[in-house]
Amino acid sequence: MMIKRSTFVRNLALGLGAAFAIAACGGSSGPSGSGGDGETGVLRVATEPAFPPFEFQAANGDLEGFDIDLMNAIGEEAGFEVQFESLPFDGIIPALQAGTVDAAISGMTITQERLQTVDFSRPYIKAGLAIAVKEDNTEIQSLEDLEGKRIAVQIGTTGADQAAEVPGAVISTFDSAPLALQELANGNVDAVINDAPVTLDAIASGNISGLKVVGELVTEEFYGIALPKDSDNTQIINDALATIIDNGTYSEIYRKWFGAAPPELPESAF
Ligand code: ARG
Repeated sequence: MMIKRSTFVRNLALGLGAAFAIAACGGSSGPSGSGGDGETGVLRVATEPAFPPFEFQAANGDLEGFDIDLMNAIGEEAGFEVQFESLPFDGIIPALQAGTVDAAISGMTITQERLQTVDFSRPYIKAGLAIAVKEDNTEIQSLEDLEGKRIAVQIGTTGADQAAEVPGAVISTFDSAPLALQELANGNVDAVINDAPVTLDAIASGNISGLKVVGELVTEEFYGIALPKDSDNTQIINDALATIIDNGTYSEIYRKWFGAAPPELPESAF
């Protein structure tokens, strides 16, 4: 087990169980343990790991990606251990609400709708949706051109929300973005609406062939780390995120995955 025995014993003593590991383990000095007894708590973090370059499973089964590196760096900074849990994307918010995970990092866009049920950290990256079509498609260039067309999306995503607004569109939903893109490559739909960095990565890496991205970004979106409403961990994560943005760690991770210097980030999404 990843939870240290002494933490476990104390959680038991507090009657909290391991579930509230980081919130519970630091006492008044906070979960970081710095200035406390130097113990490390565990933060259970959900992710849907079929979303490269943000999160994906390497050939050996390890989780990799920008989000994974970022979350581990936040954990290191704040003094907690990150324990990732793979969940279907549309199961992440319910899991946060049920308290079966403490946080989620999954390329998740900060939206007004989600803010009704969960909290988010400050934005950690800017992304946006893009439309993908077959390489030889000359008909579809914008959102308007999608009217009455067949669109594939990942279930529970902002891309799915966007597709639902297209008049007359026939929408197929998939459990992951790669599956939606494959459906397009197979010629069974006319377009995919998905996060631009992920679609571009799928094309550039050769994971999917015969597709192109058309037009402008459909939206501008910011990703945040999601937490249960009023979680004590939100402040801890925000502080650590601010520190690693300032000290260059964030920039290093950004360069590793995107090969460029990171753009300025706003402190809030809206
Ligand atoms: N950014 C989009 C959203 O929040 C898609 C995220 C999908 N993430 C994933 N790991 N599959 O709805």
